[in-house]
Amino acid sequence: MTLDTAYIRGSMAAILSILQHSSCPQNVVFHFVASASADASLLRATISASFPYLRFWIYRFRDSAVSGLISTSIRSALDCPLNYARSYLADLLPSCVRKVVYLDSDLILVDDIAKLASTPLGDSTVLAAPEYCNANFTAYFTLTFWSNPSLSSTFAGRTPCYFNTGVMVMDLDRWRRGDYTKKIEEWMELQKRMRIYELGSLPPFLLVLAGRIAAVDHQWNQHGLGGDNFRGLCRDLHPGPVSLLHWSGKGKPWARLDANRPCPLDALWAPYDLLQTPFSLDS
Ligand SMILES: *[C@@H]1O[C@H](CO)[C@@H](O)[C@H](O)[C@H]1NC(C)=O
Repeated sequence: MTLDTAYIRGSMAAILSILQHSSCPQNVVFHFVASASADASLLRATISASFPYLRFWIYRFRDSAVSGLISTSIRSALDCPLNYARSYLADLLPSCVRKVVYLDSDLILVDDIAKLASTPLGDSTVLAAPEYCNANFTAYFTLTFWSNPSLSSTFAGRTPCYFNTGVMVMDLDRWRRGDYTKKIEEWMELQKRMRIYELGSLPPFLLVLAGRIAAVDHQWNQHGLGGDNFRGLCRDLHPGPVSLLHWSGKGKPWARLDANRPCPLDALWAPYDLLQTPFSLDS
């Protein structure tokens, strides 16, 4: 998980929800990635204050590692360098860490994370995530991309489906051996020269891995609960079982609760809120 002062309230809620639903919480080890400019000792103290026995590490991510590769997207929140840290986990984490579950900070689990972590990856798959084959995949890339056969042929021979990069089981060993970080960076380099997509860190993942991932049941990413706060739109759960609720989208439950304008499902997040008073660097 990434850690920053803007999302720490979400991260803390996510950690609590993971531990509460784990049958063996003492076996769960957290790897956090924080910006190199963040106050790591404050982040460390905040986590330790609520979870004194938690086993965790904090790694520093230099914004400069990607800042030269980020081209502005249509949603500026997606341009934050830390948003790209998920592409660099294989480099940031020590090589003895061979497999991780990457999670965004705006979600809670209501099921045992061990079940998600044990998703079978087969003989060679690098990543597992819930896939959404009904989503319009074409829409994630520009006409410039689709009209250039030397680019669009990257999807030849596979059936690419959208997947959300907020919940992923990643085989870091295979990622390192296949140098997937480099593959993702190559598309980001290209994006700087010609606009092949509009969003931030997601499209390079789709370019490299869509159609090549292992499936995870949709219950492990009930996404979109952030809805669109600007228009006051609240989203409902997708049909079927729920193991993980994900407030992806513009609206975050802590902000809506603070503003006294919560969506109905925000009531499910509230019990995990350990930092009710807004987190402050001066505290
Ligand atoms: C999918 O998206 C593309 C590009 O935005 C659009 O041209 C096309 O009509 C869409 N297809 C469907 C079935 O909605």
